[in-house]
Amino acid sequence: MARLAVNIDHIATIRQARKGTYPDPVAAAVLAELAGADGIVVHLREDRRHIQDRDVRLLRNVIQTKLILEMAATTEMVGIALDIKPDIVTLVPEKREELTTEGGLDLIIHKDGIAETVETLQNNGIPVSIFIDPDLEQIKLAHRINAAMVEIHTGTFCEARSAYKKGQAFEEIVNAVKFAHKLKLGIHAGHGLCYKTIQAFEDLNEIDEFSIGHSIVARAALVGMERAVREMKELVDSL
Ligand code: PXP
Repeated sequence: MARLAVNIDHIATIRQARKGTYPDPVAAAVLAELAGADGIVVHLREDRRHIQDRDVRLLRNVIQTKLILEMAATTEMVGIALDIKPDIVTLVPEKREELTTEGGLDLIIHKDGIAETVETLQNNGIPVSIFIDPDLEQIKLAHRINAAMVEIHTGTFCEARSAYKKGQAFEEIVNAVKFAHKLKLGIHAGHGLCYKTIQAFEDLNEIDEFSIGHSIVARAALVGMERAVREMKELVDSL
């Protein structure tokens, strides 16, 4: 059965809108765990637009499941990861001007730098997942540089407007997942998933974990964190 990792970045987005102290992502993480989350994800961005260093440190001590730290492969972030020791690091590309992560890491361009980061983190006991587009060449390279896991970018599928484009994007995800499974990589999937799009993954049993944030936090604003997480957890469990 696939796990549900809940990304709580946007709880921090609401707090940072006023640069105040609430809502606290730590409280959201505790509620998410009570509602059945199998892990908590935070993206510590270079510009600290939502999650702050203090959040990651507190979460490390408070959460009972798994802490998954999303980060760019920079010297600063590697230092923080080695200090805080999350259960998993997910390496993502990062651009200052983007609204959210726009696509997977391009290992064809960045292979050597990413390989070094993967080696440093994994030699220090932190398994690494690489966020990549559903592309067989990218998966091959992630395997070649010994990443423990890949996270398949589902954003193109989720955002596709026409049935044709959606079908095409989903086929790419299926092929990528099957190939990663053949290479014995751990398989995560995420970006843009919501209560509707998650249901397409019914027969894709090779996915170990879904990483979902915005749709859960958006629903939580209306129905509460526990209910929003529980409803997504039920959908993931039913796949
Ligand atoms: N996976 C990765 C690598 C991401 O960068 C994000 C967004 O921070 C997510 C999953 C979650 O995406 P969403 O917030 O659209 O559910």
